Amino acid sequence: MRLNAIKHVCSSPLRSKPAWYLAVTGALLISGCYASLYVPTVADVPPGGSLNTLLEGREVYVQKCGSCHILHLPESLGESEWSTRLDEMATRAKLSDREKDVVLQYLKSGVLRAGRR
Ligand code: HEC
Repeated sequence: MRLNAIKHVCSSPLRSKPAWYLAVTGALLISGCYASLYVPTVADVPPGGSLNTLLEGREVYVQKCGSCHILHLPESLGESEWSTRLDEMATRAKLSDREKDVVLQYLKSGVLRAGRR
């Protein structure tokens, strides 16, 4: 009952996801509508980048950046603003250099994707 309501609000194509994905995001959905945080596809991969890197960036973002405040949608800021913000926030979230790099790639691809819409 409750899950149905949440699915309705988020209106995300959750049905096409594998079971493990539902298990992981299901817990997150209880506290917020993170299904609206876009999941990268090959179409979002920039030159020289990789899909795995973007997916890893999303994972780190969800794991490390949502403990103090809501997860800001990638498209809510511009690319340069994300770079500046991430410099401050990487310290707060105790990100490694690699984690910071993949999160930034994910956020930037989200900005570009929004521009394409
Ligand atoms: C330890 C707590 C903490 C963590 C972890 C954290 N933040 Fe923040 N964040 C804050 C606080 C506090 C503010 C608001 C005050 C400020 O801007 O300094 C903020 C503000 C922001 C803002 C600005 C929002 C606005 O409206 O201008 C963005 C964007 C942001 N955080 C992104 C991130 C990202 C990305 C991560 C993960 C790398 C992250 N945060 C992790 C505490 C945190």
